[in-house]
Amino acid sequence: MQKKVFRKMMGLAGLAVICLLLGASAVFAATQTAAASDAPEIVTTGIPATSGMDTLSAIFTRRSVRKYSDKPVSDATVKLLLQAAMAAPTAKNTQSWEFVVIRDKNTLAQIPSFHPFAKHIPTCQVAIVVCGNTKLEATKGHWIPDGSNAAMNILLAAHSLGLGGVWTTFYPYEDRTAGIRKLLNLPEHIMPLTIIPLGYPVEKRAYQDRFNPAKVHYEKW
Ligand SMILES: Cc1cc2nc3c(=O)[nH]c(=O)nc-3n(C[C@H](O)[C@H](O)[C@H](O)COP(=O)(O)O)c2cc1C
Repeated sequence: MQKKVFRKMMGLAGLAVICLLLGASAVFAATQTAAASDAPEIVTTGIPATSGMDTLSAIFTRRSVRKYSDKPVSDATVKLLLQAAMAAPTAKNTQSWEFVVIRDKNTLAQIPSFHPFAKHIPTCQVAIVVCGNTKLEATKGHWIPDGSNAAMNILLAAHSLGLGGVWTTFYPYEDRTAGIRKLLNLPEHIMPLTIIPLGYPVEKRAYQDRFNPAKVHYEKW
């Protein structure tokens, strides 16, 4: 009789331990899911994201945007734009680009003092300076097309995500280049190409049809 009670008690105790373990793992899984959904989604391998806009729509509807709302641009979005930038082609796949991300309002506010067409810069949420690294370029001068491809990818990706931006150039102006080099402590081998201010647009710019058949030459000039 005593043996029977003992066995029953052991069975109940075992059941309680199993329930406890199941409960604990459920709580652990729930906290992990909550933590994961709170964190910005940053994918480091594979294709990071897709947007609802197809490639041709992005190309044809992109316009320069110089007026931005107060809505913040998340770090995850900036990371995605940098991933888009680094998906661009480069000569011999040297990836001769470098990027400086600026959120500091004080830094942004100084740019119009040496750039005559940059008064929109201090009003953006975040800006990406696209630079070329002359120590990495395939042949002298390749940092320019390499960086330009990256900058264009940023502009198109930003537009496809509902953001606005504008190519605000440093190259080929020596005074603007000197100004941003000093402001950001850029080493001599880092060439600033353009700054792309980003934010959610408060202006809507219409599609422009710029196709001009006179610009197209077939077979020879
Ligand atoms: C190489 C280059 C340099 C540019 N520099 C500036 C600039 O310094 N400041 C500015 O506000 N916009 C600048 N822009 C933006 C052009 O003004 C703009 O792309 C052009 O007017 C066509 O308009 P869209 O971008 O809306 O199609 C530049 C664009 C390029 C490609």
